[in-house]
Amino acid sequence: MRNFNYKNGTEIIFGKNTEVLVGREIKKYTNKILLHYGGGSIKSNGLYERVITSLENENIEVFELSGVKPNPRVSLVREGIDICRRNNIDFILAVGGGSVIDSSKAIAAGVNYKGDVWDLFIDKPINHPCLKIATILTIPAAGSETSSSCVITNEDGYYKRSAGHPDLRPIFSILNPELTFTLPKYQTSCGIADMIAHILERYFTNEKNVDLTDRLCEATLKAIMENALRLNLDSNDYNARAEIMLSGMVAHNDSLNMGRIGDWASHDIEHELSGIYDIAHGAGLSIIFPAWMKYVYKHDLNRFAQFANRVFNIDINLNNLEETALKGIESLENFFTNINLPTRLSHVNIGDDRIEEMSLKLVAHCDHVGNFIEIRQKEALEIFKLAL
Ligand code: NZQ
Ligand code: ZN
Repeated sequence: MRNFNYKNGTEIIFGKNTEVLVGREIKKYTNKILLHYGGGSIKSNGLYERVITSLENENIEVFELSGVKPNPRVSLVREGIDICRRNNIDFILAVGGGSVIDSSKAIAAGVNYKGDVWDLFIDKPINHPCLKIATILTIPAAGSETSSSCVITNEDGYYKRSAGHPDLRPIFSILNPELTFTLPKYQTSCGIADMIAHILERYFTNEKNVDLTDRLCEATLKAIMENALRLNLDSNDYNARAEIMLSGMVAHNDSLNMGRIGDWASHDIEHELSGIYDIAHGAGLSIIFPAWMKYVYKHDLNRFAQFANRVFNIDINLNNLEETALKGIESLENFFTNINLPTRLSHVNIGDDRIEEMSLKLVAHCDHVGNFIEIRQKEALEIFKLAL
């Protein structure tokens, strides 16, 4: 096990009706905020009204910026930075999913930066003060409600890149599972694929003697899959929604990462896909992750056999570990299919015409991605081919 520091200061306020507490919580820090949200789901389901009432009750001045798109764009981030600078705002409330939260984080990182905010996603470190942010989460998926990173797309070239700093972790996040009842089934499933991928990125490590975090990863994966199947039967099952929401947070709050180094190649490869084709990140992952697994499993057959055995109850064939490993990958694909997600590029009508371009863009700003094995352009191209 490696040495590590662990600190995650985001306060979690979890449970039914908790969004009405938002005004009281914000009042502890400020009297003025930017309220940032997406394309309208919070208005049609009544959440917007409840949030505004709670903020009004505490006399908090509210500036608004809506219109965050899935795979959030840097142009809107620049607008948000401008609003905060002109009105001396130092606190952002994100109401939505990963895209809204990430857009808020990018604004928070950009306000006190002298150059263009996109620099922070390419090669400039964040070493200036960031604004504070808080969130009301409406879709369990990205884990941005406690993470220190954000992912933004630049429309100029459709590069999708991440930036991070510990100060970008939200001050608090409100997680009410009831808010996820209005999610379309497809978005629920995409979120589930994303949280599974966050665990798998950490699970496939070269680090030895990480038994506890292995077991925590496996348990969280099993809880997610069991409750995903419950939601297949009844999407209004509060307890299943609550388990999924809690799991999405645990999957990405870095507790499963203690003492180990994660991989993250599948995420980087997927970001090329959603950057260019604007598909949901989770759907991209249900295609790319199994392809990555097929490309790398021989690197550590024992770990892949352990995954198959402990997560999918597949008997280990000691005479043929490869067979066990492949059954594990197949089971993961079957699970994604059971929750109506694509597992091939062809399922989302993507052919091979731009896979070379995506594999080149992947390493345009770095030498390689991934840690389990290093992925460069040639390897990425092979993974895209396995995903066709
Ligand atoms: O815009 P609205 O109208 O709100 O609709 C959204 C959006 O269309 C809808 N939605 C959200 N909550 C809803 C709802 N519809 C009905 N009822 C609700 N309760 O869902 C759609 C997708 O929302 P989005 O925020 O894009 O989803 P998600 O949370 O999956 O976020 C995806 C983004 O997060 C990034 C991804 O790359 C992607 O850009 N990630 C961020 C990470 C981080 N910051 O730590 C890590 C992740 O690996 C990921 O890369
Ligand atoms: Zn993700």
